[in-house]
Amino acid sequence: METPGSAVLASPSHLPGTVPVVTKTRTIHRCRECGATSARWLGRCPECAEWGSLEELPLANGAGAVLHDAERPVPVAEVDPLGAARRPTGLGELDRVLGGGLVAGSVTLLGGEPGTGKSTMMLQALGLMAERGARCLLVSAEESREQVGLRARRLGVSDPGVLVVSETSLPRILAHVDDVAPDVLAVDSVQTIVDPDTPGVPGSVGQVRECAHRLVRVAKQRGPSVLLVGHVTKEGTLAGPRALEHVVDTVLSFDGDRHHVLRLLRATKHRFGSTQEVGLFEMTGGGLVGVPDPSALLLADRPAGVPGSVVAPVLEGDRPLLVEVQALVARTSAPLPRRSAQGLDGGRVALLLAVLERRVDVPLSGFEVHASVAGGVRVTEAGADLAVALAVTGARLDATLPAGTVALGEVGLGGEVRRVPRADRRLAEAARLGFNRAVGPVSLPDVEGLSVLRVGTVRDAVAALGLTG
Ligand code: TYD
Ligand code: MG
Repeated sequence: METPGSAVLASPSHLPGTVPVVTKTRTIHRCRECGATSARWLGRCPECAEWGSLEELPLANGAGAVLHDAERPVPVAEVDPLGAARRPTGLGELDRVLGGGLVAGSVTLLGGEPGTGKSTMMLQALGLMAERGARCLLVSAEESREQVGLRARRLGVSDPGVLVVSETSLPRILAHVDDVAPDVLAVDSVQTIVDPDTPGVPGSVGQVRECAHRLVRVAKQRGPSVLLVGHVTKEGTLAGPRALEHVVDTVLSFDGDRHHVLRLLRATKHRFGSTQEVGLFEMTGGGLVGVPDPSALLLADRPAGVPGSVVAPVLEGDRPLLVEVQALVARTSAPLPRRSAQGLDGGRVALLLAVLERRVDVPLSGFEVHASVAGGVRVTEAGADLAVALAVTGARLDATLPAGTVALGEVGLGGEVRRVPRADRRLAEAARLGFNRAVGPVSLPDVEGLSVLRVGTVRDAVAALGLTG
């Protein structure tokens, strides 16, 4: 009978005819005074000369590993955070998101829906890196060399340092890597390459995982920066296993409506820097160009004095961005009036409509309601709640907000207007673009050039802005 907590050795010695296996535990001798170690026991420490200070300790599981050439642990404060060499891609907005550039030996996954411009961005970046002397290998597994060549001509990418091969077979891709020894390897896309020794069709979980693993190994062993294009499913997640996101160092998501010009680049995972930076691009006839003033671009076509239009200062990562929230409310005899949300979370909009009905007495049954963000931008944060609520109210009551007003704040189920992070930066951006009034939660700070209207509830905001039918 064993007593609880006693260690049981897995030795089948009680069975007839078996012999217990005895493993000798390897040990090390460590000086109690100075921490020096020795394989043998010694009467006197060879480091600090203390007598009788060595004690025998069992070795950890790394028994037998030789540490001569390995990285030694160092005090964390002495690690140079910039030690990882970065190669700027030359695309300013991409470098901003990467924290300066691509790290040698790292793997970056660039995800996005078809048509957002992933292949374009890769080719532009490779062209610029090649101009600065990098050897770049583009493996196109989706398009022929001729198609890539055509795009290169359109983008003005002509540096001989950009080599392109159209190939889908992983072993042949790896052979090309051995052959070319690139500084930067780009694979477009990870879902269309295939390892013949792995079961499954291209893009299947097993294939994507195996191919990604092999390419990660190439990056770690041979040191090129590896860029992988990854397709995104309709639900907006990266196709293939979640494991893909775990094996790579950086996951970038390139977002934007293909019918609109503005594209947002975010890092959803970044082992070498912040995930708060956002890059903004505009797709032009000659490729992607950085947008220095996205708010101005997004507000350029804003109609003046139309009910149902409210400007909201939202945050994309760390970057304040002014977006126009629009709402349209139309009478309908349909038993289930339509509600649609574009660029906004549908569930969030439904919640705000219920708050308007119950807490602000804005009657919406018998009306279809459409809410959207202009310019093809997707707003995922609650800071735009108040703007959505005011846009719907204005559209329903046919009333406009005073000119030059922005609205910000999260709306709670009680109809209360709640604080938003980084309100100062949002308001500063509004002031910079010439807005002169802001309505939002009581916590709003004072900002030069803006008159700040602090409200406790959506109902207060509606009243203070004179939004009545
Ligand atoms: P692409 O890079 O092929 O997108 P992805 O690889 O993400 O599927 O390009 C997307 C769209 O951009 C494509 O429909 C054509 C357009 N485009 C431009 O408008 N300007 C350009 O200079 C290029 C190269 C493409
Ligand atoms: Mg493509």
